[in-house]
Amino acid sequence: MDKPTPGRFITLEGIEGAGKSSQVEPLASCLREQGLEVVTTREPGGSPIAERLRTLLLDPDNAGMSETAELLLMFAARAEHLEKKICPALAAGRWVICDRFTDATYAYQGGGRGVDPARIAVLEDLVQGGLRPDLTLVFDLPPALGLERARSRAGRTDRFESETQRFFEAVRAVYLERARARPQRYRLLDATAPMDEVTRRIRDEALAFIERTRARP
Ligand SMILES: Nc1ncnc2c1ncn2[C@@H]1O[C@H](COP(=O)(O)OP(=O)(O)O)[C@@H](O)[C@H]1O
Ligand SMILES: [Mg+2]
Repeated sequence: MDKPTPGRFITLEGIEGAGKSSQVEPLASCLREQGLEVVTTREPGGSPIAERLRTLLLDPDNAGMSETAELLLMFAARAEHLEKKICPALAAGRWVICDRFTDATYAYQGGGRGVDPARIAVLEDLVQGGLRPDLTLVFDLPPALGLERARSRAGRTDRFESETQRFFEAVRAVYLERARARPQRYRLLDATAPMDEVTRRIRDEALAFIERTRARP
């Protein structure tokens, strides 16, 4: 009998309104149809303490938070999330789909806020050891369109959504740069396409990824 496929770590990245959260369940269904056990989660958050840190990080009443505090809270939440949810799931052979992960820190705190990426890399090594996503889908679209979509969603505008278009141009540029530098791990998606087309494209990428994984476990 075939050995079971080991757990893999897939992350979804992109600016607000790119369509990441909308695609989590369609991607999970695609993987489950292939017989895989799937855990879906998100950042910041994903475990009880990390969700409390998320509330703190996104609360518009915390405008003016120190950039270093923001960076450390992101990684504090990530440390909790990894220990309580992501690592146990991967160790048990489950596939983890995470709505944002450390690429978002490079893009938002690095690109958006101007934190030196070398400082982010130090925290990445400290908190994650050698763990990196196996596949990262980058949803790309012009910030004006993303923000229009995000702001049409119900609910209060969070601390990041209320940033300027210039901030999101910088965030987008980092995502694109990271995706282009490591084409084996990243897949760039045209997030301006209709939702069902994005779903189809993700499905194709996921099936191709599963094939690669089976060929080289
Ligand atoms: N491909 C798409 N085309 C048009 N609207 C979309 C598309 N993907 C998502 N949306 C809509 O845009 C809004 C933001 O989508 P969402 O998945 O929450 O984005 P994100 O999680 O990246 O911020 C939602 O109202 C969603 O229904
Ligand atoms: Mg979302």
